[in-house]
Amino acid sequence: MKAFVVDRYGRKNGIRAADMPPPEPREDDVLIQIHAASVNPLDSKIRDGEFKLVLPYRLPLILGNDLAGVVVRVGSRVRQFKPGDEVYARPHKDRIGTFAEFIAVKEDGVALKPTTLTMEEAASIPLVGLTAWQAMIEKGQLRKGQKVLIHAGSGGVGTFAIQLAKHAGATVATTTSARNIELVKSLGADVVIDYKKDDFSLILKDYDVVLDTQGGNTLEKSLRVLKPRGKLIGIAGPPDPDFAKETGASWFLKTAIGRV
Ligand SMILES: NC(=O)c1ccc[n+]([C@@H]2O[C@H](COP(=O)([O-])OP(=O)(O)OC[C@H]3O[C@@H](n4cnc5c(N)ncnc54)[C@H](OP(=O)(O)O)[C@@H]3O)[C@@H](O)[C@H]2O)c1
Repeated sequence: MKAFVVDRYGRKNGIRAADMPPPEPREDDVLIQIHAASVNPLDSKIRDGEFKLVLPYRLPLILGNDLAGVVVRVGSRVRQFKPGDEVYARPHKDRIGTFAEFIAVKEDGVALKPTTLTMEEAASIPLVGLTAWQAMIEKGQLRKGQKVLIHAGSGGVGTFAIQLAKHAGATVATTTSARNIELVKSLGADVVIDYKKDDFSLILKDYDVVLDTQGGNTLEKSLRVLKPRGKLIGIAGPPDPDFAKETGASWFLKTAIGRV
């Protein structure tokens, strides 16, 4: 099958169109013919080698973290899907590879595609949607009446995070550039700051949660807008101790805790 692969880590090495063996589905896998896949910053970070210590992929690696497509075959233990179903999916992080004609995904990473969405629209959702859910609901545990600052509200993660935070009943402040102010307002943002013009850390205070998608200076300044015992959730930097535990990287866990 045709696929886009990384042969060697590093920005300058790029990715290559290749002929790869088709995936062999396991008994709890769904084999999907991919119609659309989205490109996320995670793909370029993986290509650049930023994740090679925590996610030791075997090269050549097929890139791509989410997809929409049609089920062509299911494993013997799959109960929820059948050939012909239109689905969208986020493969498990050690079995990525959606920039290809086919992929086998464990059943629990697959959902029926809403009929109102095109394949392209559906493929843009899984990774950003799940990331925003993890940040706002699972880690942030946002509640009615709380205040949250979401950096980059116009981005893939930000657009979902704003809507989830509003759904949880929070007041949402967000940073964006001028051209996307109307977009973030239409998603429900209550306070909108043009990051090219204004310094959010001089405007906002006493926030319960900040979602930082930028790292560096933005991350540092974000600490200043939090109330005591507020939460800063960073997704631009390296994975956290929970991720290390999940992947069995005990050495990383020690390093991460050592730095705190
Ligand atoms: N995609 C995922 O599911 C995922 C998962 C885990 C971690 N992350 C990380 O989260 C970050 C964002 O990912 P994404 O997929 O949402 O990216 P994206 O769709 O490419 O969006 C990036 C956004 O960043 C905004 N931006 C640039 N500089 C900014 C600044 N200084 N302050 C505030 N906003 C700024 C831009 O807004 P304007 O166009 O309005 O200027 C743009 O909309 C990346 O670091 C990524 O690695 C993403």
